[in-house]
Amino acid sequence: MFFLKIRDGRLKKAMDEEAAEFTSSVEFDKYIFEADVKCNIAHTLMLKEEKIIDEEIADKILEALFKLAEEGYNSLNFNPADEDIHIAIENYVIKSVGVYVAGFMHTAKSRNDQVATDLRLSLRTKINEIQINILDFIKGLIELAIEHKHTIFVGYTHLQHGQPITFAHHLMAYAHSLKRDYERLADSHKRVNLNPLGSGALATTTFPINRELTTKLLGFDNYLENSMDGVSSRDFIIETISDLAILSSNLCKIGEELILWSSYEFRLVEIADEFSSTSSIMPQKKNPDVAELVRGKSSIVTGELMTMLMILKGIPYTYNRDLQEINPHLWNVIENIEAILNITSKMTLSINFKKERAMELVYENFATATDLADLMVKEKKIPFRTAHQIVGRIVNEVNSNNLNFNDIDSEFVDRIAIEIIEKPLYLSNDSMKKALDPIENVKSRKVLGGPSPEMVDLSIKNMQKFLEKEYKNKT
Ligand code: ARG
Repeated sequence: MFFLKIRDGRLKKAMDEEAAEFTSSVEFDKYIFEADVKCNIAHTLMLKEEKIIDEEIADKILEALFKLAEEGYNSLNFNPADEDIHIAIENYVIKSVGVYVAGFMHTAKSRNDQVATDLRLSLRTKINEIQINILDFIKGLIELAIEHKHTIFVGYTHLQHGQPITFAHHLMAYAHSLKRDYERLADSHKRVNLNPLGSGALATTTFPINRELTTKLLGFDNYLENSMDGVSSRDFIIETISDLAILSSNLCKIGEELILWSSYEFRLVEIADEFSSTSSIMPQKKNPDVAELVRGKSSIVTGELMTMLMILKGIPYTYNRDLQEINPHLWNVIENIEAILNITSKMTLSINFKKERAMELVYENFATATDLADLMVKEKKIPFRTAHQIVGRIVNEVNSNNLNFNDIDSEFVDRIAIEIIEKPLYLSNDSMKKALDPIENVKSRKVLGGPSPEMVDLSIKNMQKFLEKEYKNKT
C-alpha cells in the first residue's frame, strides 16, 4: 500500500514519534472532515473546468472524493505519520485511484488555504445550527410568556425588591438578549463566509485558477481579496467565539436565576425533576446541578476565548503552525456552547412557576413605593425628589411599626408630609389603593418597553415577526 510521503523529498528521516504526536492535528481534524472533502471536490471541479488538470484525471479524483463523502470519516485509515486530515484524505484518494492520478489533486492548492477554508465552512455550519437553537429557545420563551402575561412578579435591582412586573416581562428580557446573540452571530457569519481557497501557501499560484468558481461552489458570499490575509487570519474565529462567550454569559445568567429562584428562600420556581439531582446523604434535597453546570461550563467558553487570543496575538504573517493550536479550543467551545444552550433551553422551558409565591413577594416589600411617589407628583404637583423623601420616610415608619404598606391611608401619608413639607397632601384613599396595588401598577406601566400586558403583547408580536422572518431565512 502506498502512502503519501511528503517528507521524502526534503527530509531524510521520519519524525520523532513524540514530535509527530506533538504536531499532529488528526485528533481534532474530525471536525473539518466534511468541509475538507467539500473543499477538495470544489477545487478539483475548478481545476477540471479551467483545464488545469485533465478531465479524465479530475473525474477519477472526484469519484474517489464523492465515495469518501458517502462512506464518511471512519473510512479513513490514519497512518501514524499523518500530520493531519488533509494527508489522510489524499491517502484515501491514492488508495482509490492510484498515486499518479491522485498526485494531481494538490495542484494549485496548499494545506494552508485548505485548512482556512475548512474552518470557515465548518464554523458557518455550526453558527447556523446554534442560531436555529437560539430561535427555538426564543420560541419556547414566547410560549411561556403568553401563559404568564398576567402573572405578577417582582422585579429586582441589587437582588432587592424593585418594582412589580409580570413574569412574561422577565421572560421576554431573556428573549431579547438571545435575539441579540442571534444577530451578533448573523453579523459574524458575514465575515466567516468568505473564501480563502486559492490563496495557496501565501501568495496564490501561477496556475490560472478560478476563485470565483470555488467561491460559488462552496457557497461563500465572496472570496478573500488578499492571499496573505486568506491563510493567516483567524479573527473570524475570535469574533464568533466572542459572540458565543456573550451568549454563554447570557445563558449563565438564566441558569443563575433558576438556581436562586428554586431555593427555599425564594421558592419561586420548581425546576423539573429531569433537570435536578438529589443528595446521596440528605434525602430531602432537590439540587439544581444542571443549572450550576450551565454556570460552570459557561466559563469554559470565555476561558477558551482568552486562550485563542493569546495564541494569535504575536504570530507573524503568514501561516505558522501555532494557528493549528487554535482549533481544539474552537471545537471545545462549540461543543460546550451547544450543550449549554440546549440544556438551558430545555430546563428553563420546563420550570413550574409558583404564581402564589410571586404574588406574596410582590405585596410584601414595598415594590409599589415608586408609584406612591409618582402619584404625589401627578396629583399634587410636588417635585419627585420631595415625594421620594416622603415615601422613604413612610417606608421607615411602616417598618418600625410593623405595619403593612398596602394598608396605609392618606392620613398616614399626611402625618409625614406635614413633617417634611409642612402641609398635607390630601391624596384620595382610592387613588392610593390603586397606586399601591401591584396588579394596577403593572397595568399602568404601558409605555413602550414596559411590563403592562399590552406592552408585553406588543413585544411578543414583534418577536414573533422576527422569528418568522429568521426561520424563513434558515430554510
Ligand atoms: N494541520 C494544519 C493546521 O490545522 C494544516 C495546515 C498545515 N500547513 C503546514 N504548512 N504545515 O493548521
